[in-house]
Amino acid sequence: MCGIVGVLGNHEAAPLLVEALKRLEYRGYDSAGIATVNDGALDRRRAVGKLVNLSDLLVHEPLAGKAGIGHTRWATHGAPNVANAHPHRAGPVAVVHNGIIENFRELRAELARAGLHFETETDTETIALLVQHMLNQGMTPRDAASAAIGRLEGAFALALLFDGEDDLMIAARKGSPLAIGHGKGEVFVGSDAMALAPMTDQITYLEEGDWAYLTREHVEIRDASGTLVNRPVQTVNIDLAQVEKGGHRHFMAKEIAEQPTVLGDALAHYLRGEGIELPGPGLDFNDFDRLVMVACGTANYACVVAKYWFEQLAGISVEVDIASEFRYREPPIPPRSLALFVSQSGETADTLAALRYCEGKAQRIAAVVNVTESSIARESDLVLPIRAGTEIGVASTKAFTCQLTVLFLLALKAAHDRGRLDGEELDAHLTALRRIPGLLNTALAQSDQIATVAKPVSEARDVLFLGRGAMFPLAMEGALKLKEISYIHAEGYASGELKHGPIALVDKTVPVIVMAPSDHLFDKTVSNMQEVMARGGKVLLITDARGAKAAGEDCWKVLVMPEVAALLAPILYALPAQLLAYHAAVAKGTDVDQPRNLAKSVTVE
Ligand code: G6P
Repeated sequence: MCGIVGVLGNHEAAPLLVEALKRLEYRGYDSAGIATVNDGALDRRRAVGKLVNLSDLLVHEPLAGKAGIGHTRWATHGAPNVANAHPHRAGPVAVVHNGIIENFRELRAELARAGLHFETETDTETIALLVQHMLNQGMTPRDAASAAIGRLEGAFALALLFDGEDDLMIAARKGSPLAIGHGKGEVFVGSDAMALAPMTDQITYLEEGDWAYLTREHVEIRDASGTLVNRPVQTVNIDLAQVEKGGHRHFMAKEIAEQPTVLGDALAHYLRGEGIELPGPGLDFNDFDRLVMVACGTANYACVVAKYWFEQLAGISVEVDIASEFRYREPPIPPRSLALFVSQSGETADTLAALRYCEGKAQRIAAVVNVTESSIARESDLVLPIRAGTEIGVASTKAFTCQLTVLFLLALKAAHDRGRLDGEELDAHLTALRRIPGLLNTALAQSDQIATVAKPVSEARDVLFLGRGAMFPLAMEGALKLKEISYIHAEGYASGELKHGPIALVDKTVPVIVMAPSDHLFDKTVSNMQEVMARGGKVLLITDARGAKAAGEDCWKVLVMPEVAALLAPILYALPAQLLAYHAAVAKGTDVDQPRNLAKSVTVE
């Protein structure tokens, strides 16, 4: 993880770096630091914890200079203390780094033999020392950086600054994203374009293995073989309102509330004409016998929900795996497979590695992403944007429901292509889908009521979520949301599996949250719910009016959702699950948008 930024500007760099780091804090917030070159002198400031601590430090110990680099850290190697905070410095060179240098132990041993001295436990310091070692041998900064970068194994995006060089920055990427921003007589680098948005919208994305030699007036990019390359400059539109809270107390609250709008936007994007219109080259599901879906975290649960849809609607067999397992288990990929990768950020290292594993094996590679300039998008044959807009809260909300929406459209297309849905049936499903934004609005209106229920939930030590069919992955997502932001231990189970072990956990202190629209599985779920209540468990039933009437009587609490087409219930019921987690976290007073130990874009495996 970690976020990096660099500036060769015409104004003081420190405020620009801090502003850009604010936009990168979703990548980690264990420590933050900046380095600048001022009249040739390289200096740095670092502080543990959130960026605000660095800002405070800079008030007391300002750092002048118009050239600078900055970093916000999610600790991998070494504790989150000042010594391990970036920028790391070795003599005349400072570096910020996102990723992991896998061969740092070998390099460290080699540099120690050469008499260089280490001050930290980090892999990153090795980069600075390696460059210093090359400089000591009389190389120029350019040759030293090039030689050092060539020795690095693993994943990295990095930026280097040199003592005595007010107009020089060297940046490189391999495995982690890096954008170069172009200004008038200024140049910037950043982990993403959003970080650079206040400075410029003119962006060049470095490709895998590229490194760049930057001065204010000159951008020189070379590929891994050292050949000079031309990478295009793109105008990237970032709506700055998206990175403000817009009157909400937290980004998460804002993003939950945005769901009716962004979902409507996603639908409008895919339902332009009569039926479903996918962007880019066509996709015919008759070409595939199998769908392989891979993702992490919340995106993985979106895939598991979609598995029910693809199987039921389109009769296509689906395999879903979490990327960190998939990439190493060497799964056979039959040739007539569509490999589908789902990722909000499009940068999750494990998902990207899984995609690369499928290259040359699967017939087609498609990506369902929010960030369309991301690595996963760029390495796929077909990119399906979810159009959720910038998501800042670490716990994913609107991206999840937009992922579900796009996956449902794909499942409908698959069913239509394969002759399992005629035009009329397809229309009926699309009509039901078009109603979802309105239903989400109705559900949102229950936020206060959910806050009341969330209060006692926030006092629990353990919480169980139950669901059946496509509501089972939603139960897992509900549990993930709650544990991520409220630190309450929560598990999602298939209702029918409860009696095979987890029911032993049930007593009056464990809220059991049952997510059950009144569909064809409702009676079975109710039986499982009664097994819980018979053992003194207190059940919060989330259902519709019919379900509440039929089974709500003896429950501890009941939340009533609007009626929804059975297949689409996971999209609608995501909302009370999110609100429950949100209000429980607020009641506990945890850091909702930046929960401890987590980061939003996980660019390490
Ligand atoms: C992190 C985030 C989760 C997210 C997961 C996958 O763990 O905290 O919210 O679901 O990564 O991220 P992606 O960007 O690939 O969807």
